[in-house]
Amino acid sequence: MPPTDLSGRSEGLVYRLLQFDQLPSTNDHLRQLSREGAPEGTVVLADHQTAGRGRRGRSWASPPGVGLWFSVLLRPSRPAREAPLWALLAAAAVRAAVHEVAGVAAQVKWPNDVVVAGAKLAGILAEMAGPAARPAVIVGIGLNVNQEEGDFPPELRGRATSVRLSVGRPLPRETLLHPILRHLATRYRQALRGGFAPLLDEVTHHSATVGRWVAVTEAEGVWTGLAVGLAPDGALLVRPEGTGPAVAVYAADVSIRPAPSPAKGGPRL
Ligand code: BTN
Repeated sequence: MPPTDLSGRSEGLVYRLLQFDQLPSTNDHLRQLSREGAPEGTVVLADHQTAGRGRRGRSWASPPGVGLWFSVLLRPSRPAREAPLWALLAAAAVRAAVHEVAGVAAQVKWPNDVVVAGAKLAGILAEMAGPAARPAVIVGIGLNVNQEEGDFPPELRGRATSVRLSVGRPLPRETLLHPILRHLATRYRQALRGGFAPLLDEVTHHSATVGRWVAVTEAEGVWTGLAVGLAPDGALLVRPEGTGPAVAVYAADVSIRPAPSPAKGGPRL
């Protein structure tokens, strides 16, 4: 079936919203449209993804009827190396929208999650497309809206949540989509005009990571430290346990850890 085209304008960004019943992955479909010259603001939304993707090659469960699975095409006039910032921008937009619409006290977990009391509510997959000189960014957003506990695969139970589980009632998914697009557009315009400093302040303020002890899992191994802030390029600054200056962490999994006992002599807050 051809997609439904529900286009509109939000905060100066013209959105062209293409709605599908089913796709393998909205990021993959939008990448193809981007290659064919789709304009900035193209949004691909699917009720069901059969091969939804997460970071680091993981799959993303995207069953029909319960979530918002969509991707937004941006064509920023800024260098491609700022890619990690786009995921934080989208996470901040989702956090603000679920708070505004449903009163959910969500936080941003570096680098690409929105969490409620530590459980994952949304994940962002920001991918670069096109040449570095004329970058395109595909911002994929997966937001759990109406799942109940038993709807999550067993390995995610207790670690994933939904807007419904957070507020105790189901919510029409479309009430969240346009506020997310509006919050995304506001932050995008602001970043293009004046840089990412206000976004980084917002993310730090609503962070589930900064100020916490974390385990950093990299290809070379796992180490622990205190997350002390965000670098201007969106990296997480972590002071390793015991010694040393803060290290900028880019490509890693980060999980929250309890503070070490004082006897172990970690860095002080
Ligand atoms: C993660 O947490 O690792 C990121 C998950 C991103 C999932 C979204 S759903 C819409 C878009 N299409 C995909 O295939 N992935 C993203």
